[in-house]
Amino acid sequence: MSEQGKRAAGRAAAELVEPGMRLGLGTGSTVEHLLVALAERRLDVAGVPTSEATAARCRELGLPLITPDEVDELDLAIDGADEIDPQLSATKGGGGALLREKVVASMARRFVLIADREKLVERLGDSFPLPIEVVPFAIAPVTRELRSRGFDVQVRHNEDGQESRTDNGNALLAARYPGGIEDPAVTDVTLTLLPGVAASGLFVELAQLALIASGDDVEVVRPASEPTSEEREETGGW
Ligand code: A5P
Repeated sequence: MSEQGKRAAGRAAAELVEPGMRLGLGTGSTVEHLLVALAERRLDVAGVPTSEATAARCRELGLPLITPDEVDELDLAIDGADEIDPQLSATKGGGGALLREKVVASMARRFVLIADREKLVERLGDSFPLPIEVVPFAIAPVTRELRSRGFDVQVRHNEDGQESRTDNGNALLAARYPGGIEDPAVTDVTLTLLPGVAASGLFVELAQLALIASGDDVEVVRPASEPTSEEREETGGW
């Protein structure tokens, strides 16, 4: 994955931020560049971090933090992705932060994905196994259920060979579906309704735009199908 592309996308996203904004701050190596660029701009902003790692990095950089209970909504959330499809639906959670990322994205009037062009795919779940956050008690039944539905499921482990735990104390599954996921919206709802699942890594049509980098060039990409006038109104014309 090109560091140059991540940097270009992260820095371009920092330019979308205006003084006074309440932000959602994503997680990962692309967001790292956003945080550095934001700190350099020294704007009067504050952000809800989507992980302990992002929170720690914000403290180092001097970026003010807020919690979800301190704001009714966020002006703008910016986050990386593992895969992005033409509708700007995304697979997320490679870094294990999917639940908080989803909460934060849902609080934002505008949600922007930042990524290197290599993350663009025609169909989600094809190149990257879908992360699913599960309460530890439910690992076995959820795994069995997913396998019976055709997923190839692994429990994620950390570098020490121990089962991974998220910032919420949950386990992570990596679920591959042969040929990719045909209908991300239906799959997301189906997975989320399984008892014990805290979040699926499918972020379906949450983003209004994506900043996609090829080297130093950043393209503003919008969903393949146009938003409705109500959707445009909700996002202030985006
Ligand atoms: C964190 O859990 C993820 O959702 C990241 O946003 C995603 O994995 C992209 O990360 P990179 O920017 O490091 O590729």
